[in-house]
Amino acid sequence: MVNQIPNVTLHDGLTIPKIGFGTYRLNGNEGVQAINNAIDHGYRLIDTAYNYENEGTVGEAVRRSSTPREQLLITSKLPGRYHHYDKAVTTIQESLYRANLDYYDLYLIHWPNPIQDIYVEAWQALIEAKRRGYIRSIGVCNFLPEHLERLKQKTGELPTINQIELHPFFNQEAQRKWHQEHQIATESWSPLARTNDVFDHPVLQKLASNHNRTVSQIILRWHYQLDAIAIPKSATPSRQLENISIFDFELSNEEMSIINQLSKVDGRMKDQDPAVYEEF
Ligand SMILES: NC(=O)c1ccc[n+]([C@@H]2O[C@H](COP(=O)([O-])OP(=O)(O)OC[C@H]3O[C@@H](n4cnc5c(N)ncnc54)[C@H](OP(=O)(O)O)[C@@H]3O)[C@@H](O)[C@H]2O)c1
Repeated sequence: MVNQIPNVTLHDGLTIPKIGFGTYRLNGNEGVQAINNAIDHGYRLIDTAYNYENEGTVGEAVRRSSTPREQLLITSKLPGRYHHYDKAVTTIQESLYRANLDYYDLYLIHWPNPIQDIYVEAWQALIEAKRRGYIRSIGVCNFLPEHLERLKQKTGELPTINQIELHPFFNQEAQRKWHQEHQIATESWSPLARTNDVFDHPVLQKLASNHNRTVSQIILRWHYQLDAIAIPKSATPSRQLENISIFDFELSNEEMSIINQLSKVDGRMKDQDPAVYEEF
């Protein structure tokens, strides 16, 4: 039986599941197999990027899947080296060719790269690509409020979604509040902090044991109750299923606050502060 994941409607009307599937490092035949397993378990929102070099893998998984294309929501991302308007528009077309898809459901600017400082052009290209029907909904990743304000000021249009680093060691409270005030959905990348240290944390282990759940389920339930769309990656079918089996228990307000207390100001995994960090 396929798991039903609750949905959320973005500010442009697109409805997407509240948990998606990360594909970073899922490549080739093994990647296709892993993504197909995830779809069979009930994942519908699949996250790739031009720079993961696996848009082809994701596209092949979509074609091999018995789930119709229109029931799947495929996200890809524009790399920093193609922020110039013309390059961005052709890169989105190339991105579609790589996946052999007619359209992406979501397309995001991967990093703002504020020193390069042409993310507004990239945003204008996403607006145009949406107008041409290449993309259904447009968003960003790793944009700080100052970058989002600038998009609004220059184009009048805010992203539907901002995909940001978010896990128990870095809960992004202020950024999430800003999103909420501007009807932007928060999506959590590395929601399990790539398992670094979180799985051994005594507080999370205690909560897992109290609820008779795994640490991963406690963390993903916490994202869900924060109203953040987590996109955990797993190549392992049993873990894929475990990660979406979180809709039949609840964390209390006190338990949510206990997890929130694990967050640190410098809790980013690799110090990738979008105010200064750039990726191409
Ligand atoms: N926009 C951005 O800048 C950005 C940056 C980073 C990531 N992302 C996206 O976010 C997605 C998720 O982040 P991520 O891949 O970095 O890290 P993650 O999802 O936090 O962690 C993935 C790791 O957790 C393991 N894992 C998953 N479920 C588990 C479970 N139930 N029990 C034990 N281990 C488990 C996986 O192992 P196995 O695979 O071996 O099962 C894998 O090693 C990426 O795949 C990518 O799509 C976006």
